[in-house]
Amino acid sequence: DQKKSLEGKTVLITAGPTYEAIDPVRFIGNHSSGKMGFSLAEEAAKRGAKVILISGPSSLKPKHENIDLHRITSAKEMLDKVFEYYNTIDIGIASAAVADYAPKVVASEKIKKNEDTFTIELIKNPDILKTMGEKKSHQFLVGFALETQNEEENAKGKLAKKNLDMIVLNSLRDEGAGFKNDTNKIKIFTKTEKIEFDLKSKENVAKDILDCIEAQYLK
Ligand code: C5P
Repeated sequence: DQKKSLEGKTVLITAGPTYEAIDPVRFIGNHSSGKMGFSLAEEAAKRGAKVILISGPSSLKPKHENIDLHRITSAKEMLDKVFEYYNTIDIGIASAAVADYAPKVVASEKIKKNEDTFTIELIKNPDILKTMGEKKSHQFLVGFALETQNEEENAKGKLAKKNLDMIVLNSLRDEGAGFKNDTNKIKIFTKTEKIEFDLKSKENVAKDILDCIEAQYLK
């Protein structure tokens, strides 16, 4: 039997992509499947946590009854939903692939194909995790990083800049890692430690991440 190591804890997890509307039928998005976040939600729920899963568009469905799923579309909606719950959570894990920019204006009617070139002005989205870090009191915060260069330095930089307790670095160099696959290869950084893991299924990566959180947070 699974030991209920997270009994009595509330864990908030962001997952999936965000879609940023251009007009009523079009959006800017990305290929995030939501698998890493949904795997983390299942594992945290199995360990006895109450899970608040806030996900952008994903075909996945939660299985465990302790998972309270909130489906949102845009980064702005994800931010608002996170802060409905932020004061009530013990642990926050940001695994969503939030769009960095959104169209400055959303056309109210479908945009017609007239000109030969077409420009969309984009405006920076709120950084949800950074905002969580700024408002942190008792919460233990975990972020993800996906880097193509100076990956370890950039990951450690984000740990500090976003006021996190832990950051999970996804390797892009390794075959099978990354956000559309069923497998992932990670390194975890805390303020003092660096832990490297082998390539494994996202279910097993979720176990490693939660073991690490428990070792840091419940100690
Ligand atoms: O800064 P960068 O996008 O690389 O940081 C990645 C981390 O920040 C991830 O944990 C991601 O979920 C989170 N993030 C966020 N809101 C954004 C951008 C990133 O919560 N607008």
